[in-house]
Amino acid sequence: MTFRALLLAGTCVAFAAPALADVNIYTTRQPALIQPVMDAFTAETGIAVNLAYVDSGLAERLRAEGNRSPADLVMTVDIANLKQIVDAGVIQPVESNVLTAAVPETLRSPDNLWFGLTTRARIVYAARDRVADDEITTYEDLASDKWQGRICTRAGLHDYNLALLSAVIAHLGEDKARDWAAGVRKNLARKPEGNDRAQVRAIWAGQCDISLGNTYYMGEMLNNAEQAAWANAVRIVFPTFENGGTHVNVSGVAMTTAAPNRDQALRLMEYLVSPEAQRIYADLNYEYPVLQGVPLSDLVASWGEFTPDDVNLDDLAGHRPAALRIMEEVNFDG
Ligand SMILES: [Fe+2]
Repeated sequence: MTFRALLLAGTCVAFAAPALADVNIYTTRQPALIQPVMDAFTAETGIAVNLAYVDSGLAERLRAEGNRSPADLVMTVDIANLKQIVDAGVIQPVESNVLTAAVPETLRSPDNLWFGLTTRARIVYAARDRVADDEITTYEDLASDKWQGRICTRAGLHDYNLALLSAVIAHLGEDKARDWAAGVRKNLARKPEGNDRAQVRAIWAGQCDISLGNTYYMGEMLNNAEQAAWANAVRIVFPTFENGGTHVNVSGVAMTTAAPNRDQALRLMEYLVSPEAQRIYADLNYEYPVLQGVPLSDLVASWGEFTPDDVNLDDLAGHRPAALRIMEEVNFDG
């Protein structure tokens, strides 16, 4: 199947005939979050970008297509997804001084197989009227008795919580991480259910006082007529590890082994870490640019400053199997 055919078949966006070869992207991100930055790239270079939205099974699809894949690049969120695609053997390393200069070492593959483009912090949403300013400062504290019956979260087996637990393992080791997960579970106000925003709704409804969530959902809730009230019931707290910073994850990009339009794809990758693109792309989903010195949107800046944890995300991904095992051992979602 050609990329054009895929475009016709799927929920994707087609472009007018370009002057140069197109860049084809498989993305698990909503096309609306990506389209504006691609439009800016096309305006600057004349290179069109075709986005194919792939909801799930991205690694399997790339493996099935092999060297005939029309896709040049993959864009997805969460280190687990990036690692899964890399582990499927469908990604080639990209040597680029522009990319390695722009993306901090902790936010890219040591083998140049994937590069973070934006970050999101996994933070605590705290009830404005029931949680004092300094009541929660560390992730470790989430396991302490004072939070008994006060915490809401989505499933422990969700990628976002597995990455957080992987960071706990990186800092405390597996034994203490198991105690931590058991302690947080004991403090839950209800069995894990729903997404990150559903936990904020539960705080708004008085069912719990704090929840785990990613930063950008604050922006999404504030821009949703029904959810703005939930958002206004909470504030963002950036917990840190006792010996570290605030846990962050990435959205990222990787080049396929097949990459039929390699030169154009590399040009796009390098464009995506330029100050202009970083600003547009981060603002679209209320995320943080990976490039230092790029100003935050007023809304994102209003949440306050934080120090990102310095655990390398590739190392973090290595703890995922242990994190999965621990979540099951403590029956976090049961
Ligand atoms: Fe998300």
